[in-house]
Amino acid sequence: MEEKMGKAPNSEYILEAVDLCKYFKAGRKQYVKAVDHVNIRMRHGETLGLVGESGCGKTTTGRTMIRLYEPTSGKILFEGQDISKLKGKELLHFKKNVQIIFQDPYASLDPRMTIGEIISEGMDVHMKLSEEEKEKRVNDLLRKVGLNTEYANRFAHELSGGQRQRIGIARALAVEPKFIVCDEPISALDVSIQAQVVNLLMKLQREMGLTYLFISHDLSMIQHISDRVGVMYLGSIVELAPEKTIYSASKHPYTQALISAIPVADPEADTEKDRIKLEGEVPSPLNPPSGCKFRTRCRYATERCAAEAPVLREVEPDHFVACHLCE
Ligand SMILES: Nc1ncnc2c1ncn2[C@@H]1O[C@H](COP(=O)(O)OP(=O)(O)O)[C@@H](O)[C@H]1O
Ligand code: SF4
Ligand SMILES: [Mg+2]
Repeated sequence: MEEKMGKAPNSEYILEAVDLCKYFKAGRKQYVKAVDHVNIRMRHGETLGLVGESGCGKTTTGRTMIRLYEPTSGKILFEGQDISKLKGKELLHFKKNVQIIFQDPYASLDPRMTIGEIISEGMDVHMKLSEEEKEKRVNDLLRKVGLNTEYANRFAHELSGGQRQRIGIARALAVEPKFIVCDEPISALDVSIQAQVVNLLMKLQREMGLTYLFISHDLSMIQHISDRVGVMYLGSIVELAPEKTIYSASKHPYTQALISAIPVADPEADTEKDRIKLEGEVPSPLNPPSGCKFRTRCRYATERCAAEAPVLREVEPDHFVACHLCE
């Protein structure tokens, strides 16, 4: 990446992934390169939408950036400081600042714990509070996410999907983080309540100055909530730009195909010939194509694309693209 690195602590960026890799072993001498030299710089208070087809590495990117997974290589900077090798107390301090809201609110809440215990678990690790203070804080958090304080004594199975995800949000907020990975937080919810949960997340962001990495497989879903959008394909970021640029002036053939697949409101304007069809399947991540990993589905692919992997470059101010066509 040709963007300059912020070196000072408390830099312009809250969290940065620098050449971040996370490889999973998959049999003898075989690796899935789930995150393959990813560069993302998160600005204070922004929402960065991360999109791409299922299996492209969005969850692994989010989890590795907050060290739920140990990186295979590369660096993670928090407020300008390298936290990739931290241990013990210092690591704990970082973990207090970064939280995650999981995709599946059914699987992510312990069925044996009360809601109050679930929300206060992180407080026990990161904050020294009396029982009374803890109870007050749990009640405040429940109200903040739009739930009655009586829920503190209930169990997850007594709650609806939307209510569970509100608990997931309260749990993430409990330790006063600065950065939250929202990993498809509404994908498992009923369409009728998705907007409520998104609106709640946006309201909390404004009130608390939070920074979100908002993961979704659906480009149209994150359109309205993202300041910038990063598009992933087979473990790599192929395009990263302000939301408006992605939707109106994308330059990567993969982004263009995703955009053209978004249904438009006016059916008469939605003619087949305007669509760019994505040919073929996503290749196996165990054996990705040489050079540009998108080349097997790209209608512009040349010999160079098979020989040489394109690098993510800033082709216009704040618009990064990894494609030989854009050099
Ligand atoms: N814990 C794991 N062990 C082995 N492979 C994994 C693991 N988690 C994810 N993967 C693989 O890494 C790739 C990226 O997965 P993931 O980050 O979950 O993608 P996404 O969130 O975009 O759907 C996939 O090929 C997936 O099978
Ligand atoms: S580098 Fe080549 S194959 Fe890859 S997106 Fe650009 S034109 Fe297509
Ligand atoms: Mg995922």
